[in-house]
Amino acid sequence: MADTHPDLLQRPLPDGTVPAEVVARTEKRWLGVMVAMLVVMMAVVVLTGMTNAIHPPSNVETIDPTTLHLGGEFAESNLGTAQERDGSLTVRLIGGQYGFAPDCTKVAVDTPVKFRLTSTDVIHGFLLPSTNVNTMVVPGFVAEVRTQFTRPGIYRMPCNEFCGPGHHGMWARVSVVPKEQFHSLAPTERSSCVQQ
Ligand code: CUA
Repeated sequence: MADTHPDLLQRPLPDGTVPAEVVARTEKRWLGVMVAMLVVMMAVVVLTGMTNAIHPPSNVETIDPTTLHLGGEFAESNLGTAQERDGSLTVRLIGGQYGFAPDCTKVAVDTPVKFRLTSTDVIHGFLLPSTNVNTMVVPGFVAEVRTQFTRPGIYRMPCNEFCGPGHHGMWARVSVVPKEQFHSLAPTERSSCVQQ
């Protein structure tokens, strides 16, 4: 009888046991599914990077969070929107529990904008809905994101990293205005949405 075959491997499998060939075939299929998923995800990363400028934040630039207010790029007088020689805009913001400084800044539509942010305390997030802007704001580092707004309007920027009990109330705004209007604003008016 087969049940008593001297070679263990030659005996029939007990009921309910899946034969080795079936296991191997199933494993190979799942391996194929996993490889296909990796390929799809890689393609999404590359395509969104090329077509929508959505990149993982990777600007490794350090800064001392304890001396931000004493001078340099993130001193109070440098915060908000600044115009570069080439016409592009640079917006400098500081995130801290529980707000951004300044809490509203103006930029011109159809103009390259570079956001530079850092944090004074814990990790915050900076997200502008319906744009490619979404980055973590980590104390000790400067986060940099580039974008260009194609539609005027008020863009709310919620903090999207849990940063403490006041997290839900941490948000600010970017006001995107027509070019002519932007150029008629005084530099101080560009870094505030207060009507002057
Ligand atoms: Cu700051 Cu959440």
